[in-house]
Amino acid sequence: MCGIVGYVGSRDAVGVILDGLKRLEYRGYDSAGIAVVSSGGLQRRRSEGKLQNLVRSLAAEPLSGAFGLGHTRWATHGRPSEENAHPHQDCTGRLVVVHNGIIENYLALKARLEGAGHRFVTQTDTEVVAHLVESLYAGSLEEAVRRAVGELEGIYALVLMHESEPQTLVAARVGPPLVVGLAEGEHFLASDVAALLPYTRDFVFLDDGDIVTVTPGAMRLVNAAGEPVVRQAQRILWDPIQAEKGGYRHFMLKEIHEQPQAVRDTLFGRMGLEEGEVHIEELAGAAASLAEAKRVVLIACGTSWHAALVGKFLIEQIAGLPAEVDYGSEFRYRTPIVDASTLAVAISQSGETADTLAAFREAKRLGASGVAICNVQGSMLTREAAGTLLTHAGPEIGVASTKAFTSQLVALALLALHLGRLRGTLSRDACRRHLESLARLPHLMEQALAAPGPIEELAKAAVKASDFLYLGRGIHYPIALEGALKLKEISYIHAEGYPAGEMKHGPIALIDERMGIVALCPRGRVYEKMLSNVQEVKARGGRVIAVATAGDSEIRRILDAADTLLEVPALDELWSPLLFVLPLQLLAYYTAVRAGRDVDQPRNLAKSVTVE
Ligand code: M6R
Repeated sequence: MCGIVGYVGSRDAVGVILDGLKRLEYRGYDSAGIAVVSSGGLQRRRSEGKLQNLVRSLAAEPLSGAFGLGHTRWATHGRPSEENAHPHQDCTGRLVVVHNGIIENYLALKARLEGAGHRFVTQTDTEVVAHLVESLYAGSLEEAVRRAVGELEGIYALVLMHESEPQTLVAARVGPPLVVGLAEGEHFLASDVAALLPYTRDFVFLDDGDIVTVTPGAMRLVNAAGEPVVRQAQRILWDPIQAEKGGYRHFMLKEIHEQPQAVRDTLFGRMGLEEGEVHIEELAGAAASLAEAKRVVLIACGTSWHAALVGKFLIEQIAGLPAEVDYGSEFRYRTPIVDASTLAVAISQSGETADTLAAFREAKRLGASGVAICNVQGSMLTREAAGTLLTHAGPEIGVASTKAFTSQLVALALLALHLGRLRGTLSRDACRRHLESLARLPHLMEQALAAPGPIEELAKAAVKASDFLYLGRGIHYPIALEGALKLKEISYIHAEGYPAGEMKHGPIALIDERMGIVALCPRGRVYEKMLSNVQEVKARGGRVIAVATAGDSEIRRILDAADTLLEVPALDELWSPLLFVLPLQLLAYYTAVRAGRDVDQPRNLAKSVTVE
């Protein structure tokens, strides 16, 4: 939902800002803009469409300056256009602002400012910030911003600069993320750390209500009352190379292939194989809540919500605890039964998803203790949780989540085993056996990815399908949902995930030769039932892509020449979702490539959804 970069220092600000925006483009890509101050004063350049258009415009007519700010937009108010692209300026053209979020009271503020003579030229909510700060400016940008944010309602990460305050940027945060990158003689601002990894690993994460002023040699952090705030810097261990494509055509494909390592890194150091224990130091502070909880509520959105559905199975089966799964966006709008005996587990790759954060806060307000599973150290969610089980997937750039998902699944596996041991529902021996299975996973994932079967061939036909139905049962039903989400978000082919047993209650009517059917048929508890569901599809002329356990001869007997079998290595049913999802990710990827889609930046989407 919009990416922001700011720079003050001795480098060419344009280069640093464009480089940072490139790494943030996954957050929004319908228009982009930059403003820098040089001896010639404040100059601004904006373009509709992808960042590349702005880069081209700057190549034709270069800008330079030693401080500046930039933005890549995901439109909320006002259609994507050059006029509505950020940065927005005040009436004098000497002050500019970039914004991520929504100013909810912008109409009232706009009417007041227009009444006072300010001229608005865009349809955005953001422009009101430029004029409001202009109206309050009396020589100190920090002071004007501090007074302005007191009048704003909504959510915002803002960065501003004023031509008459050299080498100074002022930023404010309520809601969407903003970090300050620290380095010798220079400072950076960005929506996330991945944008700045080539420049620094040291970051200060801004909190809600923070206002920060940066110059090349200083950073001043204050609260809404203007009182100084002390905040520790954090060192981020992500490798900048992880945020590059590394020879792959798309980030998504690279991230699919990084999954064995992401899973290995997430398991690493947490598996006490010898003693049959799980060690999650980050949750030590929440041990009492984990041990005493009577029920678990898992809160998430999108792909993370699918991980939560798998987590429900694992927690119920291994720890014997009732578990419910809620969409972040729905939880607050019913009457959830939550009290001090509830353990709320928020799951989020980014740790910044507005709906997940809001639901998590609500659960805690109702008395639940709250822990998180998150991929971004220092993100808002990690700061609000009593403990965070970090997934070590590294930066995930592709909008379609892949390695974050499988890392979440192993984090949930570890959490379920940990809960089982803490609560005495899982013996050491049983825990050891589970850990031994999990330890085999990275290697089996490598095997599955090295020999995925005829997926590229399948994609040629898949691209012609009007719809897809993904069928799964039990712990593989959420994998069917995830496979369908992957396909629809990057190929734009309509797809639904369905519990296979429910098909005869309605969706079976849809089956025809233009409908693609993907059936997940792992060996295990519901295998026979799943085969019956495949037979039902075939009896109605449906063509099936079956995903099954390697060496399964039974499934071969019911498939015919029109069908396709994709095999994944055998593993304990509880952990096999981590293998079954891999061909589904690849099918979505190759279908989208074949359809000529923009795989890493699908239309209308943004990686982190920081508005509700
Ligand atoms: O950062 P989060 O895990 O909280 O994000 C949640 C969803 O927005 C995200 O999973 C989204 O559904 C992805 N596009 C799925 O590929």
